[in-house]
Amino acid sequence: MDKVKVGILGATGLVGQKLVQLLLKHPWFELELLTASGKVVGKKYGEIVKWLQGPFTPLELNELIVKNTDLDVVRESKVELVFSALPSNDALSIEVELAKRGVIVISSSDAMKFEEDIPLLNLEVNADHVELIKLQYRRGWRGALLKIPNCTAVILTLALKPIMDEFGLKKVIVSTMQSISGAGLTGVPSIDIIDNIIPYIEGEEERVEKESVKILGSLESQAVKPADIAISASCHRVPVIEGHLEAIFIETIEEPSVERALEALEEFKGNKIRALNLPTAPEKPIIVRRELDRPQPRLDRYINDGMSVVIGRLRVDKALRGLKLIALGNNLIRGTVGTGILIAELLTVKGFYL
Ligand SMILES: NC(=O)c1ccc[n+]([C@@H]2O[C@H](COP(=O)([O-])OP(=O)(O)OC[C@H]3O[C@@H](n4cnc5c(N)ncnc54)[C@H](OP(=O)(O)O)[C@@H]3O)[C@@H](O)[C@H]2O)c1
Repeated sequence: MDKVKVGILGATGLVGQKLVQLLLKHPWFELELLTASGKVVGKKYGEIVKWLQGPFTPLELNELIVKNTDLDVVRESKVELVFSALPSNDALSIEVELAKRGVIVISSSDAMKFEEDIPLLNLEVNADHVELIKLQYRRGWRGALLKIPNCTAVILTLALKPIMDEFGLKKVIVSTMQSISGAGLTGVPSIDIIDNIIPYIEGEEERVEKESVKILGSLESQAVKPADIAISASCHRVPVIEGHLEAIFIETIEEPSVERALEALEEFKGNKIRALNLPTAPEKPIIVRRELDRPQPRLDRYINDGMSVVIGRLRVDKALRGLKLIALGNNLIRGTVGTGILIAELLTVKGFYL
């Protein structure tokens, strides 16, 4: 199969850098276009990027020229698919215009996540929602727009899915400890976060609550019916570089048992996509740790190349007469970039390029 030519909008940011790192070695995709805000246009990526992804600077990365994030630039580049890692305010108009003009756009920004025909995908949980893009032709689009959920919601819904399938869910309370990379390159000044915890992340609690019920919802007559689960989130920024930890308290519909829940989590494979053998799909999207002091960000955020959610401390919750557990996910990989690349892989095997 010929490689699919892809581009990254916002390639110099934290999400963009992780996309560059993972796509350069991808077997199906060829990196053809990198864009940024306009300050650095025309310079080589390796010269201008403030690289924060470890000791990794392959030659081809240094040679790629960064372009302006502009419709004509994308069209001239002949990419079939772009990953958009633009700030939400700047993403909307360009993402829509590109979809209109025949490009597939996979985006991590907030814009349009709740429109009826826009899928919000965490593949092992809701791969069937991808069918919504077939409705986008009503907008007159020749391409399509698909959204990657908020990173905290990706981790939460993956942890909840096996428990929902086993016992049903009534109520979920989640308290998060989110790393600073979740706020992007310029997000949290060091003077604010070192030796500190910030108990507020603008808009995050609303995003987690609203996105999670759409992701866990069911596809019915050409729209997603949100899951009937009451979700309450309290979100906090902590001095960790990568990896979001979530303390999750669950009221189930059926009386749960720890043994059955453990089995459901350990056996969870995300069957809807498992059979497709997508290159980025982990064999086990959920890893259960039995040690009392795991998961921990420093020790567990790169398990399965950062693509699995790690769960520990599963126990009975007496207050909710349900379960409680700790979940950890790599916010940049599983939470964002890896989930976006999985979506691109699914579209490739389903032949959704138009
Ligand atoms: N970080 C995470 O874990 C995470 C998780 C989920 C979703 N997201 C979402 O993903 C997107 C990117 O996040 P990030 O953390 O990578 O942000 P970031 O580090 O601030 O990077 C933003 C990127 O967009 C470019 N950009 C900024 N303003 C622009 C404009 N007006 N026109 C064109 N390009 C522009 C920047 O280019 P310059 O370098 O030239 O400024 C940079 O490449 C955001 O929508 C964010 O909400 C992030």
